[in-house]
Amino acid sequence: MYSKEYFNKEFEKNKIEEKINDPFNLKYHISPITGWLNDPNGLCHLDGTYHIYYQADPLHAIRKNIIWGHVTTKDFINYKYHEPFIFADTNIDKVGAYSGSAFIKDNKINFFYTGNVKYPGNYDYINDGRDHNTIKIVSEDGFTYHKKELILSNDDYPKDLTRHVRDPKIYEEDGNYYLFLGARDKNNKGKVIVYRSNDLEKFAYHMEITTNYDFGYMWECPDFFELDGKKFLMVSPQGLESEEFKYQNIYQSGYFPIDVDLKAKTYSFGEFVELDYGFDFYAPQTFEDEKGRRILIGWMGMPDASYTNPTVKNNWQHALTLPRELKVSDNKLLQKPIKEIENLINKKIEIRKNENYFYQTFEFISEDIDGEFEIYLRSDAKLTYKDQILSLKLGECGYGRCERKIRIEKIDDISIYSDTSSVEIFINNGQYVMTSRVYGEKNLFKSDIIGTLYEMDAIKWNL
Ligand code: FRU
Repeated sequence: MYSKEYFNKEFEKNKIEEKINDPFNLKYHISPITGWLNDPNGLCHLDGTYHIYYQADPLHAIRKNIIWGHVTTKDFINYKYHEPFIFADTNIDKVGAYSGSAFIKDNKINFFYTGNVKYPGNYDYINDGRDHNTIKIVSEDGFTYHKKELILSNDDYPKDLTRHVRDPKIYEEDGNYYLFLGARDKNNKGKVIVYRSNDLEKFAYHMEITTNYDFGYMWECPDFFELDGKKFLMVSPQGLESEEFKYQNIYQSGYFPIDVDLKAKTYSFGEFVELDYGFDFYAPQTFEDEKGRRILIGWMGMPDASYTNPTVKNNWQHALTLPRELKVSDNKLLQKPIKEIENLINKKIEIRKNENYFYQTFEFISEDIDGEFEIYLRSDAKLTYKDQILSLKLGECGYGRCERKIRIEKIDDISIYSDTSSVEIFINNGQYVMTSRVYGEKNLFKSDIIGTLYEMDAIKWNL
C-alpha cells in the first residue's frame, strides 16, 4: 500500500506538467494530477476553507488501491492539491479507504468512512470474504488526525445483510446523530440502515429504510438532508433495469422525497427521481456550507461502464462535476452550478444561429426557448429537442457513449457548461441534468436557437 512519504511535492510537480499538456485536461473541473478518481468524499466547509476529498488511486489510472485524495479551495477559483488524507494503512481498512463523509461539530471535522478488507481465497465477496468497517477520524484542520476508531463492523450490522454495508453519512436532528449506511441484504434488496447516537461515539441500531417494492440489489452512497422543510434520501442504486427513458446507465443516482419521522421510525416514500440523465454521473454527495447553501458534487464517471476514457493513456481518469447548489421546487430538487462559477466567465459572445464557434471551454445560456432545437457541442456531439424528447447523441468523441434521452414536455431554458472533455447540461432551471465526458478534437459549437456564449477561464491550481 502507499506510504505517505511517496506523495511529496516533487512527485506532484513532475506529474502536473504532464497533465497540463494533455489536450483533454479539464480546465475548470477537479481531476486528479495522476491516476484514478471516483466518489467525492468528506465534503465540508471549515473556517472559510472548502475541503473536497475523493476516492483516489494516484498511481493507477485504472483503480487498484483506494485512498482519499484531497483538494481545498476558498473561492472555487483558486485550488490546492494536498497529500492524500486517509491511507489504507491499518488492519481495518487495509484493502481500501472507501467512501465516507464529514460532519462538523464544535469546530472539529468528524469523518466517517468505510474500511474495506478483503481476504485472499475463494470467496464470492458478497456474503463472505470481506469486511466493511465503519471508521471514525476526528480532525481539527482537515489535514491531520491522531487515530482511526472502529465504530461498527459487519458483526454489528443486522444479520439479514450481506458483507456490503458502506458509505456512512451523518444527519443531525433534535440532538440525535443518525448515521446512514448503504446496504445489500441477503435477498439482494438494496436498503439504507440507520444508527443513532447522542455523542458521535456510540451508535445503536435504529431502523432500516427501503422501498416496499423491488428497487435494485444494492444502494450505495446514501445521503439524507432537509432543505426548505422537505426531507430527501439520496442513494445510488445498483440493479435497476434499463428502460428507454429511465435508468439508462448501468447504475443510477437519485433521490426519494421522503416523509420521515426518525424518532418514531416511520416513513413514506415519494417516487425516485434521477439526478442526472447523462453518461457520467454517480455517487453524488451533498453538504451545507458556512453560507447555508446545500451543495452537491458528483463523480463525473460511471463504474463498470462499457464506454471508456482516452485519458487513461496519459495516466489519469475521471473528474468531479461542477459544485451545484440545490434548491427545492414542488418537492423536486433543482441543480445549478454555484454562483462562484460565474467568476470564471471571460468573454461574452452573442451568437448567431447556425454559425460555427470554436471555444475550448464555454457556457451557453438560452432562455425563453419556444419549440425544438439542435445544438452541436462538438462536431459529432449533438443535443436535439424534438417531439418532446431531449437527446444527447455522441459519435466517436463519446468513446462508446451513444445516446441518452429524456422525455420533457416543454423546455423553457437551457444552460450548458462545456469543458475541454466534459459537458453538463441543465434544463428548466436545473430540473433535468445531463452530465457526460466527451472527447472531441476541436470543440465546435453551433446552435439553431440564439443565446449567449461565454468563454470560461480555467481554475487556478497551486501545489
Ligand atoms: C461507489 C463506491 C462506494 C465505495 C467506493 C469504493 O462508487 O462503490 O460504494 O465506498 O465506491 O471506491
